[in-house]
Amino acid sequence: MNQQKTFLVFGASGQTGQHFVSLALKEGHKVRALVRNPAKLTFKNSELEVHQGDITAVPNLDELVQGVDFVICMLGNAELQKTTKVNTAFVQKLIPAMRRQGVKRFLYQAGGLSKPPHEQLSPILWMIRNTVARSYIGQHEDNEAVMEYLAGQASDLEWMVHRAGIGSNGPSKGVLKRSKSAPSIATFADCATYNYRTLMDPSAIHTCDLSCYQKG
Ligand SMILES: NC(=O)c1ccc[n+]([C@@H]2O[C@H](COP(=O)([O-])OP(=O)(O)OC[C@H]3O[C@@H](n4cnc5c(N)ncnc54)[C@H](OP(=O)(O)O)[C@@H]3O)[C@@H](O)[C@H]2O)c1
Repeated sequence: MNQQKTFLVFGASGQTGQHFVSLALKEGHKVRALVRNPAKLTFKNSELEVHQGDITAVPNLDELVQGVDFVICMLGNAELQKTTKVNTAFVQKLIPAMRRQGVKRFLYQAGGLSKPPHEQLSPILWMIRNTVARSYIGQHEDNEAVMEYLAGQASDLEWMVHRAGIGSNGPSKGVLKRSKSAPSIATFADCATYNYRTLMDPSAIHTCDLSCYQKG
């Protein structure tokens, strides 16, 4: 087993988050999770520490962050994000708490249709975002504001963004690699595995890459 690490997970009860928590525990690590409804977490593991709470009103973020090695957000609420940048507001509180607690490494899962700072989406991604995926524009705008904040105001931390493309909750379709231009439509499980590997990859620091299945 690798050296045991502690992961603080936001969005642990979500479609990517459940796979991520399961993998981290299977790999022998500790997981601390903030969830609105603990009953949604079906894992029984002595290394899983569950805190009940909501990102819009976390009573003591410093206490949650204290002592962890990695922080990961796989948060989403597409309906609320149509009107409110709830993830951005949360990340703007989380990053200072990480600084205060000396925790450096942070992965944020956004979407492939969210535009990274100072870049443009390819014409095909732009077209998809504004047609079939237009009901998620609020979520993309929230994710974009998170990326802007990280790029502009958190260069002292080891943040990384995964701009995931996800299509199903099916079995693994392969191994996802970082990609600047070509996104794959992946499974939640493969995205969670990618997040786990990427968090431990120093070359991913300060990137907002897409993920793409490795060929061959
Ligand atoms: N789903 C996709 O097809 C897709 C594709 C590409 C990218 N992404 C991106 O991936 C990220 C995560 O997506 P996902 O589909 O894995 O997530 P998801 O299944 O929608 O789950 C979202 C998670 O966020 C939690 N959450 C939402 N509001 C919260 C709050 N106020 N306080 C605490 N927790 C809260 C949810 O908790 P509850 O269980 O309590 O609701 C859940 O654990 C998003 O940024 C999304 O843009 C998703």
